[in-house]
Amino acid sequence: MLTGGGDCPGLNAVMRAVARKSESVYGDELLGFRDGWRGVLEDDTVPLSIQSFRGTLPRGGTILGSSRTNPYKIDGGPDRVREVLAANSVDALVAIGGEDTLGVAARLAAEDVAVVGVPKTIDNDLNATELTFGFNTAVQICVDAIDRLHTTAESHDRVMVVEVMGRHAGHIATWAAIAGGATLVLVPEEPFHIDEVCDVIRHRHEGGRYASIVVIAEGATPQEGTLAVASGEVDAFGHVRLGGIGDQVAQAIEARTGYETRAIVLGHVQRGGTPTAFDRVLATRFGIAAAEAVHDGDFGKMVALRSGDIVRVPLSEATAELKLVDPAILDVAKVFFG
Ligand code: F6P
Repeated sequence: MLTGGGDCPGLNAVMRAVARKSESVYGDELLGFRDGWRGVLEDDTVPLSIQSFRGTLPRGGTILGSSRTNPYKIDGGPDRVREVLAANSVDALVAIGGEDTLGVAARLAAEDVAVVGVPKTIDNDLNATELTFGFNTAVQICVDAIDRLHTTAESHDRVMVVEVMGRHAGHIATWAAIAGGATLVLVPEEPFHIDEVCDVIRHRHEGGRYASIVVIAEGATPQEGTLAVASGEVDAFGHVRLGGIGDQVAQAIEARTGYETRAIVLGHVQRGGTPTAFDRVLATRFGIAAAEAVHDGDFGKMVALRSGDIVRVPLSEATAELKLVDPAILDVAKVFFG
């Protein structure tokens, strides 16, 4: 097993389930690679068993560690992966990750490496599954924060701009905005115009002392030429390090409306701590399904949630494109704008 990319509540729960089913039902021997694909490239392994996961069900993070190492960005990387898997007599690899980790898994599967994927990301932007584990926990953390921000915002009649994660898709932002009763939500799917944002806030404040909560996904962008925004460094998968749009939007709102405005970046708090009961169950179902796929020799697949059932889908389908926010859900949030 390996866990790659940004960590996510429920990773340990997945591995615990893989271990339980594989060892006690199939009699398999288990091995972990530390820090995602880095551990495979560097042959950094740790023996695993049911025992290794005692007490980890409620524990956030991953006991295996994680990284954003990409074997396809390293000379001879894919050959090295095959060599290390063979040297460790690995019959099957369970890769638990998001678009990047599973993108590597999909390419390796196309080259006949025996791999099964498990969809992980708080962003919930993986295609071919209705939900990824970790998303429910992240949304709950955001909503808890927004509930608290409402009272302080109301006391001071302020605008609060709450920046949440969501690099390419605004799933967390949209769900948190609906559940948290936000005035407005800004997502990567729909570039915003700062003047329209200010109009919505003015409309709300003109009716009396009604503080505003604006939820903004870290990957939200202004419509071209409407607001200058800064950019960050790039990682091994070509992603820009985000974080900061909330602050820039908060400054723009205060400058244009005159309303006192504060920015709050929830950042990695959203990825930390214990998974919700929902995510523990989903992660456990995914882990058991992954062990079953391995046992069936059904490689090149990702386990996925569809209409309440856990199914297997081709890794290539899961990683071909990102799952964006359904406009119908955004429309629900929009009913409460202003
Ligand atoms: O794993 C996805 C994610 O949480 C994104 O929402 C966010 O942009 C990114 O990871 C942050 O990555 P890092 O932990 O490397 O700063």
